Amino acid sequence: MLIAIPDVLTAEQVAHARQLLDSTEWVDGKGTAGYQSAKAKDNMQLPEDSPAARELGEMILSALSKNPLFHAAALPQRIFPPLFNRYSGGQSFGTHVDNAIRQHPTMPIRIRTDLSATLFFAGPEEYDGGELCIEDTYGVQRVKLPPGHLVLYPSTSLHHVTPVTRGARICSFFWLQSMIRDNGQRSLLFDLDLAIQRLGRDLKNNPVAEQTGVQLTGVYHNLLRQWAEM
Ligand code: NI
Repeated sequence: MLIAIPDVLTAEQVAHARQLLDSTEWVDGKGTAGYQSAKAKDNMQLPEDSPAARELGEMILSALSKNPLFHAAALPQRIFPPLFNRYSGGQSFGTHVDNAIRQHPTMPIRIRTDLSATLFFAGPEEYDGGELCIEDTYGVQRVKLPPGHLVLYPSTSLHHVTPVTRGARICSFFWLQSMIRDNGQRSLLFDLDLAIQRLGRDLKNNPVAEQTGVQLTGVYHNLLRQWAEM
């Protein structure tokens, strides 16, 4: 399941981030790639311990902690500190799968990557190319979102970023370990959650609907109890 989460950051937050990202020093992205993906990877990154990466990473995590759609879709257990990348001048990232385990180089953080996330900082009109192409069971999904929006996709997916032939593509990317390891189970819970919310919205003051909502909420929590790993 691939899901776009709109407006994770406000326009002001995006503008502040752009100011920082446009005035900071970037390094070769191969530094954080695994052996296999270093061959496919051609982009720039912020050093993981740079003050800009830390400040903006905290801003993103704080925004996500208040985002109900993100929580419903990801059921996050642990989130890796966000990283930042920049593609320009024909740079791209060939087809790869993200490493299954991520160990932070300086912090005591190690996660299993269940979900990958990309948060866009540059508008689609600012650059050509730079599409995030994700292979899922429905074929290849091509993703290029407005600034402040985020895409969440299973880390098990093969994906690549097409060459940026004009302008610059600036994004944050990170991984998370979900309480629900299995993509199918997580997807079922998300569908059930959305259906319960819709029932609550559309059928207010209807006693039968209310009772059904309570019952389905019970099913949701009991499935979560069965499947969640903490
Ligand atoms: Ni990747």
